Amino acid sequence: MNELTGKNILIGVTGGIAAYKVVEVVSRLKKLGAEVRVVMTRAAAEFVAPRTFQEITKNPVSVEMFAGTVNFHVEHIALANFADVVLIAPATANFLAKAAHGIADDLLTTIVLATTAPMMVAPSMNTRMLEHPATQANLKILESRGVKIIDAEIGLLACGTSGKGRLSEPENICAEIVKFFAPKILSGKKILVTAGGTIEPIDPVRFICNRSSGKMGYEIARAAQLHGAEVILISGNATAEVPAGVKFVKVETALEMRAAVLEEYENVDAVIMSAAVSDYRVKNVAAQKIKKSNETLTLELVKNPDILKELGQRKNHQLLVGFAAETENVIEYARGKIAEKNLDFIVANDVSQEGAGFGVDTNIASLINRAGDVESLPKMTKAELAERIIRRVAESI
Ligand code: C5P
Repeated sequence: MNELTGKNILIGVTGGIAAYKVVEVVSRLKKLGAEVRVVMTRAAAEFVAPRTFQEITKNPVSVEMFAGTVNFHVEHIALANFADVVLIAPATANFLAKAAHGIADDLLTTIVLATTAPMMVAPSMNTRMLEHPATQANLKILESRGVKIIDAEIGLLACGTSGKGRLSEPENICAEIVKFFAPKILSGKKILVTAGGTIEPIDPVRFICNRSSGKMGYEIARAAQLHGAEVILISGNATAEVPAGVKFVKVETALEMRAAVLEEYENVDAVIMSAAVSDYRVKNVAAQKIKKSNETLTLELVKNPDILKELGQRKNHQLLVGFAAETENVIEYARGKIAEKNLDFIVANDVSQEGAGFGVDTNIASLINRAGDVESLPKMTKAELAERIIRRVAESI
């Protein structure tokens, strides 16, 4: 089942150049399983043909109030009732003004007045229009009524200027919708997630690192956020995309990661330590680039602190989740780590299996608790595994 299966989303497209980006939004929402209906203003239909949305949604697209349209008797009421959520994208200054003041002079604004569904608006317009006190006041009015504003981004605008006013990226808009529907099982909780691999310098240009992509941890941070938690993501080197809405702290070395984690530790309800922390660091980091003058080069390494173990020793109220990436005796080693690091549970995976571990989008893991119970999960995407881990965390805090 997809994240939005069974959800009815009504999208209002108003007349901005960014209307074309909403085609992508609709397409993504459909792929996530949502039932989507689109209503356009006349101005919007100047930018994108209603037929485009019609083909993607497989539903009629309504523009006119009195078109005597298809399927519904009193169309604005039927569409208002259909929606579990209403998204307006792009939302023009004119639309925001009308919505803020209850003006209903076309089909879309009439629906907006008639619906009891929660509403989200994604403004997009010229910077000066966005920053105009009238527009800002209208946004405040809507926000005070519980409308979620999906903030415009800064960038190059169609009018040739650069500034705030670009429609939020389709991916981000869809993430907000998914978040809206996700059960808020972690609301009021603060979760610290570590991810990625630490970087241990050798000299100013070289370092020791590992194959961690950060994907698993970033998906965990995203899932925790989705379920209403306040999330701090402390990350070493990673290629994954930072999830929107999390507090992101970038670090390099294991020592930096330790300091960043300890700074937050007292204030969090759970720590999920998915980072691949380098076990050793170079003892004497060269101040200058090392020359290739000798046939061999010996680097002396010293042990890094085990961050998770230290958290286990200092634990007072926090739930601690560790990771165990092994290539043999996975369950046995993982059980040992629960005791050694004073964990509540551990996510163990055999990284030698195909479809598990570093770099790939899937994982094959077992969740093991303090009592030693093992839940062996089949191969699944890292996003799905993150969801399982987060549900476990939610049950336990
Ligand atoms: O002992 P091992 O390195 O296999 O344990 C893995 C777990 O411990 C992971 O959760 C990892 O993030 C954490 N760890 C740590 N500090 C280290 C090494 C590993 O917190 N120096």
